[in-house]
Parts: sequence; structure tokens; C-alpha cells
Amino acid sequence: MNSDTLDSKYNVENKQVVSKISLKLKPTPILFANNGPPPAKRIKLSENGLAKRAITFGNGNNNINNNQKPKISVQDQKRQLPIFANKNKLIELIKRHDTLIILGEAGSGKTTQIPQYINSAGLQGNGQIAITQPRRVAAISVAMRVAQEYGNGMGIGDYVGYTVRFEDCTTKKTRIKFVTDGMLLREAMNNRLLIDYTVIMLDEAHERTLHTDVLFGIVKEAQRVREQRKLTPLKIIITSATMNVDHFSKYFNNCKVVYIEGRTFPVDIHFAKKPQDDYQTSCVATFFQIHKEAPPDHDVLIFLTGQEEIETCAHQIRLLAKDPETEGPPVRVCTLYAAQPGLQQMAVFNPAPVGVRKVIISTNIAETSVTISGIKYVIDSGMVKVRTFHPSTGLELLKVQRISREQADQRTGRAGRQSQGFCYRLYTKSQFELMNKSTVPEVQKANLNTVALQLLALKLHMLNFDFMDAPPKESVEAAFRQLKLLGAIEECVSTELTALGKKIAKFPLDPRFSKILIMAEKFSCVKEAIIVVSLLSSESILLNPPSRREQAQLARQKFRSGHGDHVTLLNIYKAFEGVGKNNIRLWCHEHFIHMKNIMYVSEVKEQLQEICRKCDIPNSTCASQIDQLRKCLLSGLFMNVAELYRDRQYITLDKRQVTLIHPSSVVHGQQPRFILFTEVVQTTKCYLRDLTTIEGDWMAEIAADYAKKHSFKSSNGNT
Ligand code: CDP
Ligand code: MG
Repeated sequence: MNSDTLDSKYNVENKQVVSKISLKLKPTPILFANNGPPPAKRIKLSENGLAKRAITFGNGNNNINNNQKPKISVQDQKRQLPIFANKNKLIELIKRHDTLIILGEAGSGKTTQIPQYINSAGLQGNGQIAITQPRRVAAISVAMRVAQEYGNGMGIGDYVGYTVRFEDCTTKKTRIKFVTDGMLLREAMNNRLLIDYTVIMLDEAHERTLHTDVLFGIVKEAQRVREQRKLTPLKIIITSATMNVDHFSKYFNNCKVVYIEGRTFPVDIHFAKKPQDDYQTSCVATFFQIHKEAPPDHDVLIFLTGQEEIETCAHQIRLLAKDPETEGPPVRVCTLYAAQPGLQQMAVFNPAPVGVRKVIISTNIAETSVTISGIKYVIDSGMVKVRTFHPSTGLELLKVQRISREQADQRTGRAGRQSQGFCYRLYTKSQFELMNKSTVPEVQKANLNTVALQLLALKLHMLNFDFMDAPPKESVEAAFRQLKLLGAIEECVSTELTALGKKIAKFPLDPRFSKILIMAEKFSCVKEAIIVVSLLSSESILLNPPSRREQAQLARQKFRSGHGDHVTLLNIYKAFEGVGKNNIRLWCHEHFIHMKNIMYVSEVKEQLQEICRKCDIPNSTCASQIDQLRKCLLSGLFMNVAELYRDRQYITLDKRQVTLIHPSSVVHGQQPRFILFTEVVQTTKCYLRDLTTIEGDWMAEIAADYAKKHSFKSSNGNT
């Protein structure tokens, strides 16, 4: 198929799709421009020498007639990876250098192979190898892959294991351990020299997550101290798909940098001719255009931003693919996002049967950290969901925003791993040019509360920490202010945690949620508090399919509480606990509950119960005295209170932001005078989500000092 045909037939195909009104596909045809000039990245890459063979875009030869699905053994697959040719050289370099930066394109074999090379050469001695991953999905899936590559009936959790939040799949025998950066940081709190490990590989360093950035400083210091005290040396390996190497190398005392030469094929880029407001629908429409033309074994990867969007898109594609009017082979739809249980994630790696097209709909997980074979087409929405903290307003926002140009190019590259590919960008060339060049490190934009507390547990003050790039001063100040308000510290300048602060630090949670659990003892609602915090630590358990929204709300009506969303969710969870094992699926279906997510909540709940036990917090229940729970929630979230200001508008007490109640909330339309919120979502307006109504006099009772400073008076008393 060539791209000209694709463009010209696009209109026809799109009209056909539009006729299925139920899916409300966009009537405007999406036109793609054929091949703009190659994006800037290609030039930059070769200039920096970061990749010997950069991705080439445009003007590729589009004759693809490779119809056979290669069926090769796992061992052969390993040998075919670009990294394999460098195996001995790499082992030699790792042996020689205490700190090494390794760059290689996504999919070249860094994450899965380097730990095995180290192990085969015995470079880890008697210690363990830790490999950090910014995301739990990636940690689990690569660990499973490496266990599979070892074979010999070795299951996951044996020689190869993983540790992610609320799930530890390692044993005493484990030598190669994949771990989320957040969990390794937690381990460092108990053992700052990370003495169990002889090699630590900080993977996906280009993502610059907050936890990885902090770990840079922690492992660097651990290596120095271990050398000074003549303890077992620590080897540090930093791996990445792209990176500002000079910056990194300088930070790690000018350490050596090596490049793994990649193998990439040309990718034909098509920009949308017009901006696409409804990028989700455009993704579906573009998929069916490709689907009609491309051979069945050409798999498609779609980038969207989050679970809800991905599931909706998956549903639409499944539905349309089955329609007798739709042309093209059968379709297997796979999804990939943060909240998926391990086994389900592995399904995305299985090839579809011959004659069936696989389409994977993913968040930015598939950008660099998870590589799936067989992708020939990429559809890039150009969007990503990011959590951003605003020190000036004290609000943390979950926002869908444009990706960076670097991310766009990584996404494109996924189509050219095994042969030439195609990338459909649902943004115009000029929109692309307006994108940021690279992604801003998380330390510059994240809420620093948790990390500030973790560092204090290590007796380190964030202001003096050896960051590669220092966080903004206002964010650090906001974090310390909050820790002080929570009672975790007495003074913002001190490195001492209070007794309460030490307890708070024991939970792998946002300090505000930890405080709720600790205070639950006083309010005799430990059971309920654990459930609510577990629900807040997981993805939403509520399913709201756009076409059946009202039906879903009706089915869950009986759980509704006038006290708000937290209590409503608690009611749902309690009902779920009463359902017999064999009926769970049916019950979830009838009540529009996301079964996987609620099962995950129950796992989290068990973990939190265990931690409470270890912290000597006895179990208790407030039964029907739900005010106890509401007060308990307020004890951790008193900074997240808003008061009705005037018709439907709420003003936050902390920074006096004008907001609205999110339409998804059970108290939407009711206008209670005071609410506490857990999340702020910004679209065109600022919305508060996950709410509990509270009484005005509780503030003085629960957070007296704070209440004094933040008066409650509505400016016009309109309540
Ligand atoms: O880390 P890097 O991006 O360099 O590559 P990798 O994650 O080590 O992946 C190397 C190869 O393993 C890729 O071709 C993946 O498709 C494959 N892989 C897989 O088949 N199944 C997994 N669960 C993980 C990786
Ligand atoms: Mg990797």
C-alpha cells in the first residue's frame, strides 16, 4: 500500500465509519499530509552522535510484502537483538567501570539483556542486581520476560523477580530484581547504602521521573560511602533511550558513555492536515482506514492518554471491527496502561493468530519502556496525561497535554523496529513545531511532599540534596509547609521528623493519606479508612461507558451517599466484599464496576492492613457512625477543603482558587456548604473530584491552627 492511496481513500472510509451514528465518529474527514521534511530530531541525533543510525522519516519505499509472521525461538530472538553483537564488549566495559552510561534505542535489548549479561559474567558477585523502572507495568512485564528467557522451569519470583508498590514477587533466591524507582527509594530509607545490591541499573533515565532523579543522588552517595568504608563496591549503570549525555556524565563524575548501535527502518510520517479536537475519535477513524488496506499481520499501535480513553477506544474498535460492513481482517484489541494486573499485560506480547490484526492501545508506557514486536503502524494522538503541581495554588492537577517533540519521535520510532513503517500523527506539522523540544524533568513540576519526607527519613534535607537539576524553591517550600501542617516536622529547616512524621514515612502513600490511616485509630474507623485509602490509591472502580452512563448510575444508585463520593465508594466496596467468589463477575457487570480495578483495591487493602499491623494500629470499625470516617478523612486532607462561594462555585480555603464540583461526583448539583476533595482536574475549568461533605465546625476541632489562619467566611454569605 502506498501513502497516496491511503490519503485519497481516507474520505470514503471515514464517511462509511461515520454512518454508524452510535459511535459518534467525527463527520469531518481527517486528512494527512504526506511526509513533511524530516523532523529536527534526526539531525540533532546524528550531530550529538547519540545514534549511529537515526530514525529516518519520509520518502521511504512503501512496498511492503512481508506477509509471514516470523516464528522464532526466544533464544534466537535474543541473538537478533542489536545489543547482542556488543555483548562481550559491554561485559568488559561494565567490569572496568564503576559507573557507566549506556544509550540505545528503545527495543535494542537494554532492559532485558544487560542484567543477564552481568549475571552470566558473574559481575554481581554475591549480591543482587536491581533494575529500576519508572512504571509498575514495565517492571512486571520485563521481569516476566527475563524469567521466560531463563527458562528451565524457573518461574517469576525465583531467580528473577520484581517489586512494585503493593506487590513483592521476590524470594531469597532472587538475583535479578526489577523494581519501580519508587520502591527502591523506599528500600533506601531502611538501608541507605543499598548494601544488598552490587549492581544497580537505573533504567529509562531519559524519563527523568522524580524518583529516578532522587535515586541518582542516593546511589551516587551509596557508592562513595561504600568505597570509603571499604564495603562491597556498588556498580551503577544508567540506561536510556535518549539523553542529554553531557549533563548526565558530568553529574556522575564524568563517567564513560557508550552507545549501542541500533537497527531502525524508515518510517513514513503523516501529519494531520487540520488540528483534531476529538483526537480519540480520530484515532478510531484512522485505525479503520489503515485496517481496510494493510495486510493482516501489520499490527497497529495507538497512543492515547489513560485507562478510560483507552477502554472506550478499545470498545469502539471491537464493535466496529465486528460490523459486517467493515472491510478488513478480524482484529485482536489489546490495551496497555498503568493499572493492569500482570498476566493481562503479558497478552499484548502474544502475536495474534495468522490472518488476525493486532492493535495495541497504550499510554506512553509503550513509548520506550515496553516494546512490542510486529508494529508496522503507529497512530499518535500527540497527547499525554501528566500530573503537575502548582506551588502557587497548592493544587496538583491531572492534565492531558501535548507531548514533547522527543516523545513524538520515540512514538514514531516504534513503527520502524523490524521493517519500514508508518506513523499517523493526529496533529498538524505546525502543531508539532510548537511542541516543547523535550519533556520537563518531573522534579521541576511534581508535588514534592512524599519525597521530601522520604529524604528526611534519611536525615537529608531536600534543599541540600545533590540533585542533577534542583527543584523549584517554591515547590520545596510548599512541601515543607505541608509536612509541617501535617505534624510530620516541627520546623521547615530541620532534618528531624517528629514521632508522627516517622510513622507517616512508613506508609508507601502520600503523607496526607498516611496521616488518615494513623488518625483512624483515634476515630475508631481503621477498617473504613483503609478501604477508602486503598480506593484512592487505585484506578477508578466505576465504569461509565458513554453510551450507558445513565444506566450505570441507576445500577449504582443504592450505594449513593449524601456524604459524597468517598462514602459511596466505601458502600460499593463493602457490598463487593459480601459477594460470593463465583458471583463477582456478574455482580461487577450488573453494577458497572471495573472488576480488575476492584480486585486490585482488595490487594492494596491487604497490604495496608499489614502495614497498619506492623505500626501497631489496631483494627477498628465505626460501623454506621460515618461521621467518624468523615472527620478522619479531614484530619489528613484539611488543606483540601473548599467552601461554597456563590452559585455552584467553590473557593478553596488554602489558596482561594475558584473551582466547580466535577459532574461525576455524587454531590454534583447539591451545593453542600463545605467539601473536602482529593483531586483537581483541569479541563476548560477547574473541577474538584472525589469529595466528602464536611461540617464547618469540624475544621476548628481537627485542624485548629490551620482553621484560624484560613477563615471560612463566604464573601457574600450566599449559602
Ligand atoms: O530496554 P530496551 O528498550 O532496549 O529493550 P528491551 O525491553 O530489553 O526489549 C528487547 C526485546 O524483548 C524487544 O524486542 C521486545 O519486543 C522483547 N520483549 C518481549 O518480547 N516481551 C517482553 N515482555 C519484553 C520484551
Ligand atoms: Mg528498556
